[in-house]
Amino acid sequence: MRIDIVSIFPEFFSVLDISLLGKARQQGLLDVAVHDLRDFTHDRHRTVDDTPYGGGAGMVMKPEPWGEALDHVLGDEADPEATTVIVPSPAGTPFTQALARELAAVPHLVFTCGRYEGIDQRVVEHASSRVTVREISLGDYVLNGGEVAVTAMIEAVGRLVPGVVGNPESLTEESHEGGLLEYPSYTKPASWRGLDVPPVLMGGNHGAIASWRHEQQLERTRRVRPDLLG
Ligand code: ADE
Repeated sequence: MRIDIVSIFPEFFSVLDISLLGKARQQGLLDVAVHDLRDFTHDRHRTVDDTPYGGGAGMVMKPEPWGEALDHVLGDEADPEATTVIVPSPAGTPFTQALARELAAVPHLVFTCGRYEGIDQRVVEHASSRVTVREISLGDYVLNGGEVAVTAMIEAVGRLVPGVVGNPESLTEESHEGGLLEYPSYTKPASWRGLDVPPVLMGGNHGAIASWRHEQQLERTRRVRPDLLG
């Protein structure tokens, strides 16, 4: 999978050099490039923002640097199936595991990190005429910019790319796969600070373990996230 990130804080994404995603990059499973939006400005101050038409607080990111940055990363690509531009925004579609799975199947993802009051809407409109564009929200709260949201999305999507997570079974047995939260996990020792591991997990009866785990998933989902049960 090819991933391009455009940001005014390219150094922020050094976090992608480490851990599982860093290893996936070294193995060539993820080809990640980070671009500085200011490299696509042409004035002495490398200006990326301006005051909003219609008034209001804050600044809006100018369309010209974004247009040039997207021209650069998209080249002559114009296939909505092969390329998705992701615009992180608190006004976007909620990011879910299902959406992460959908994005994991797209060969080329372009993440645009907005700051201030967002990016001039014509950038979304123009990019939509060439490739798929999705405005996506990490949750119902406001961050200072798209960088943290993009990092979370890349981690959630990247680990679904085949080969990135060593044991693919660990991907199917986790929260939000199958619509329920994950069951609680335990490891050795069997007794720790007066707390014992549930005996069913040590009995070796795989049927009993599976039904205990399913019940735990239901109980936890009912208690913490009843909205998931519909
Ligand atoms: N940018 C600012 N807040 C955001 C959010 N909640 N999700 C995605 N991008 C954002």
